Amino acid sequence: MSESVATPILAGKRIVLGVTGGIAAYKSVEVLRRLVDLGAHVVPVLTTAALNMVGPTTFTALASERVKMSLWDDPDPIPHTTLGQSADLIVVCPATARILADYRMGRSADLLSATLIATVAPVIVCPAMHTEMWDHPAVQENLQVLGSRGVHIVPPEEGRLAGGDIGKGRLATPEAVVAAVCDVLVPARRRLAGRTVLITAGGTREPIDPVRYIGNRSSGKQGYAIAREADRRGAKVTLVSTVELPAPAGVEVVTVSTAAEMERAVKAVAPGADIVVMSAAVADFRPVGVADQKIKKGQGVPQIRLEPTVDILAGLGAVKPPGQVLVGFAAETEDLASNAQDKLRRKNADMIVANDVSAPGVGFGHETNAVTIHRADGSSVEVALQSKDAIAAAVLDAAEALLPASAG
Ligand code: CTP
Repeated sequence: MSESVATPILAGKRIVLGVTGGIAAYKSVEVLRRLVDLGAHVVPVLTTAALNMVGPTTFTALASERVKMSLWDDPDPIPHTTLGQSADLIVVCPATARILADYRMGRSADLLSATLIATVAPVIVCPAMHTEMWDHPAVQENLQVLGSRGVHIVPPEEGRLAGGDIGKGRLATPEAVVAAVCDVLVPARRRLAGRTVLITAGGTREPIDPVRYIGNRSSGKQGYAIAREADRRGAKVTLVSTVELPAPAGVEVVTVSTAAEMERAVKAVAPGADIVVMSAAVADFRPVGVADQKIKKGQGVPQIRLEPTVDILAGLGAVKPPGQVLVGFAAETEDLASNAQDKLRRKNADMIVANDVSAPGVGFGHETNAVTIHRADGSSVEVALQSKDAIAAAVLDAAEALLPASAG
């Protein structure tokens, strides 16, 4: 583990959050909250049209500075150059067709477009509009030109749009926008460089006899996705898994089967890990003693006595070194929030990633997942249904935010 003092990953970064007048403007409140949570100094700049969609008070209350709305009502006579020069990054979320056109043409029509022209900082635009507008050649050409100038584009998603239509044009999720900001400001390869990450994946198998076991439906896909993402971010990754799926060459995979084997493998690596993610579904009970030979039908219906397995996560929580971020998972079917908070306390974890495995498309075996990340300070963040890779990025973003900064 690295020696450290506490600093979240966007600490010291000044971000201008431009909000334009699309229906999705309300989602930029969530983006603002998350950026501030990650330590950024965020100044919201709202256009006049945005004020038809959202109120300035909400932004001012959550931001690091009062919201700015005009070139003319600011004590600073040149707010656009002050903002543009001091920003480490400008993110426009949502970006309407109008702001894309102004920005492409270099038209300073309002404070936001003037600030965009007055900056040399990286810019991210997150377009959101109706499908017909998104498909219009003018919009596509504007984006192409902006992209060729180095502007980062977070593309919209398919989904439900204002007025009930369905199609491409819905604003990217807050997680995707925040991930794009982090990727630009803190290049991925550096984010976890020098860090050690330990991940468990899959469901344990507790043998009954040489051919049978008590298992569960965990596929290990979410754990592997987290291992891939941690590897991409430059961490030294150990994956203790009960299943064998393709893993990046740099990831050390330790294959285990039972809870006891998993505990041994985890304990060997955990003391030196900066982040430990217990995404495995560990059996809570195992048969008392394993039959040496296959149990035969003719012997009658067997009585299988069970005993508790060791709780690996709770064991890690009890000896957690200072600065280590310990992440547990909770697959639940009811009372998600209270069960997750209870688990956080009982197991001395820093985060519990809770998923409702009874919801459609969520958890075991699916390619997608939806989770709520609960933190030990009582706060939580919802991560909407999306690929397990995107969930992995959100889990690691949240874990990184709790990591003390590296001394080096
Ligand atoms: N876990 C563990 N060792 C166990 C059981 C669970 O390390 N023997 C870890 C899992 O990897 C997961 C978290 O604990 O990160 C949640 O496990 P869960 O079984 O849901 O928690 P329990 O405390 O057993 O709560 P309950 O059975 O009441 O749901």
